[in-house]
Amino acid sequence: MKEGKLQTADKGTQTLNRRILEIFRERKGEVISGEELSTMLGISRTAVWKHVEGLRKLGYTVSAVPAKGYRMVASPERLVADEIAAGLSTERIGTRIVCLDETDSTNNVAFRLAEEGTVEGTVVIADAQSRGKGRLGRSWASPKGVNLYCSVVLRPAVPPVAASQLTFLSVVAVARAIELTTPLKAWIKWPNDILIDGRKIAGLLNEMSAETEKVNFVVLGIGVNINMRREQFPPDLRHPASSLYLENGEELDRNRFICTLLRELDELYAIYLRLGYGPVREEWLSRSQLHGRKARIDAQNGSVIGIINGIDDMGALLLDMDGREERILSGDVTLL
Ligand code: BTN
Repeated sequence: MKEGKLQTADKGTQTLNRRILEIFRERKGEVISGEELSTMLGISRTAVWKHVEGLRKLGYTVSAVPAKGYRMVASPERLVADEIAAGLSTERIGTRIVCLDETDSTNNVAFRLAEEGTVEGTVVIADAQSRGKGRLGRSWASPKGVNLYCSVVLRPAVPPVAASQLTFLSVVAVARAIELTTPLKAWIKWPNDILIDGRKIAGLLNEMSAETEKVNFVVLGIGVNINMRREQFPPDLRHPASSLYLENGEELDRNRFICTLLRELDELYAIYLRLGYGPVREEWLSRSQLHGRKARIDAQNGSVIGIINGIDDMGALLLDMDGREERILSGDVTLL
């Protein structure tokens, strides 16, 4: 497996980088003297200079104003663990952030880390995936430098049958993040697609390790088409797809989007742990366009048609077929 190098340095450097980025963010546009930075960080002025150099190597434009100090001019349009961490003030999600240049699938990396015992809230992000995985054994187009491919490790104390609730939780978080960072309205399509004007923008692929009674961990795999151009989509798509850039006409800073998404995930997960699935289910339903609609569900063992009544506590789609209610566990929905 080709795996990109980790973009993070040792823990001490990482913490200082994060702190410097926070200071520049809090005092946006200001020139801050080397002396002030050295006092705030508790390190020498030479060490400040070395860290600024390190940030430049990561792609930050930091200008040195003679006899005055440093000013952050621009952040890189690259995924940088330190920048993401500096923009977060979360309780659980993002306790550890692993940024990779390229990997086969962030879900595979996160799964392996989870098996090795990584902390709950670990986030794996890649700039490109060579074998991005979609639902039902499909592939997920993952070109470099334009989208979000991320996987989050959770260790909820719930039975395996309840793990699908986390899929609904993550899809709500993605919808919220889109609406917080763009003027677009995001709709949810069962079970885990995000649509804008009927075109798919994001998908979720959650994987789990469990025993009979308990979940060991869940990997939430989230793919969002952010700045992808039309020509980067595969020609043989089954359903119309798009990106936030194509829908909104503006590029979006991916680091900002990720921070927003991780914050929303953190908040929803805290609500889930405190109050259970109810509030997540309510928000999922209010964001889905499915209730009361006639639909065809294509599953592996055939197709069925009916009126959608909602979803149950385990996330199954409830389909009214001439007065008889069926629980559908997986499949593709087409509204008729
Ligand atoms: C779908 O088919 O709608 C689900 C797509 C899920 C894609 C994401 S990208 C990050 C994570 N890693 C993968 O290989 N897949 C998921």
